[in-house]
Amino acid sequence: MRHMPDAMSAAAQAPLSDPAEYRKALSCFATGVTVVTTRWQDQDWGMTCNSFSSVSLEPRLVLWSIRKAASSLPAFTQSGGFTVSVLSQEQEAVARQFATGDMVARFSGVPVQRQVSQRQRLTQALAWFDCQLYQLVDAGDHHIVMGQVQNFGWRDDVQALAFWRSRFGQLEALPA
Ligand SMILES: Cc1cc2nc3c(=O)[nH]c(=O)nc-3n(C[C@H](O)[C@H](O)[C@H](O)COP(=O)(O)O)c2cc1C
Repeated sequence: MRHMPDAMSAAAQAPLSDPAEYRKALSCFATGVTVVTTRWQDQDWGMTCNSFSSVSLEPRLVLWSIRKAASSLPAFTQSGGFTVSVLSQEQEAVARQFATGDMVARFSGVPVQRQVSQRQRLTQALAWFDCQLYQLVDAGDHHIVMGQVQNFGWRDDVQALAFWRSRFGQLEALPA
């Protein structure tokens, strides 16, 4: 059920079935931005993702969801694992780069480090999680990809990149 003040605009009162309105409502949930990568068939794969979330601390499980229509779907579902690089506010261009184009173009000019798992991680990321595939869940037009964290790292000298109402932004802590 929707609770809306009387004065709310007509646009916000569109029928509940309107997919564009549904997407707008979802976009009010602010997230960070990540790039997920994997190695499959001797090629590096990567895509921008904001559905990343922590699931369990013990064992260490994380998840994200991938559109079934994504060209990289087989890479992420069949390679056995993935690496999540959490982007800093200086990496908006990287977020855009990994959302389109072929895989060579996506990695072009982006500093990366190949890990023991053979997957690339973005050197300038704010945090990273290298994961073994734990479970795939069929979920509508997406698959939920769950991973068990094998290795991770983080830094505290940069701010996080944010995504809110379909725009990139930066997260700033309120004064304590
Ligand atoms: C900020 C942002 C977040 C995104 N999050 C996701 C996501 O969580 N899951 C997803 O499947 N696609 C997501 N995308 C879209 C993919 O990055 C994009 O569709 C994909 O890279 C297309 O390439 P492919 O079809 O060749 O895999 C996101 C895009 C942007 C810009």
